[in-house]
Amino acid sequence: MAETLTLTSTDDRRAQYAELLPQLRGLVQDEPDRVANLANLAAALRQSFGFFWVGFYVVRDDQLVLGPFQGDIACTRIEHGQGVCGAAWAEATSQWVPNVDAFPGHIACSSLSRSEVVVPVLVEDDVVAVLDVDSDKLDDFTEADIEGLQSVAQLCAEIWTRTT
Ligand code: SME
Repeated sequence: MAETLTLTSTDDRRAQYAELLPQLRGLVQDEPDRVANLANLAAALRQSFGFFWVGFYVVRDDQLVLGPFQGDIACTRIEHGQGVCGAAWAEATSQWVPNVDAFPGHIACSSLSRSEVVVPVLVEDDVVAVLDVDSDKLDDFTEADIEGLQSVAQLCAEIWTRTT
């Protein structure tokens, strides 16, 4: 396993994700434990981009339950359709929220969170988890972030079936 991450493209977020993704793949490819892999993916994203909060909520029966994350303590359970995470689960689509105060039903785990992206992890058309990324700045995410985070969610989906 690689023990360091290298990002040489300093200004271009799209180039940074392109550089990071093979390293993330290397980070998880030999590890069969799902929690260990999700934990390292959350850490790698926060370490690379300095996001305020990065983590996973995992579908357990009829709720999302807090999984591996990096950042302040957070809500442990979210109902289907509730908040940004619950919407990503219910709609099975990415949620791009430039201003959390303008999102009806946003769940404020931290009052410092100002903008947010949530991407579903889809395995055979079922949402098995969501990747949630928060910023303490308004409108802090771009199309490059959405696409990059969707690629990370795709990587999660690929490893989901071979990890437990
Ligand atoms: N804001 C999220 C809840 C999770 S925290 O941001 C970590 C939501 O509205 O679903």
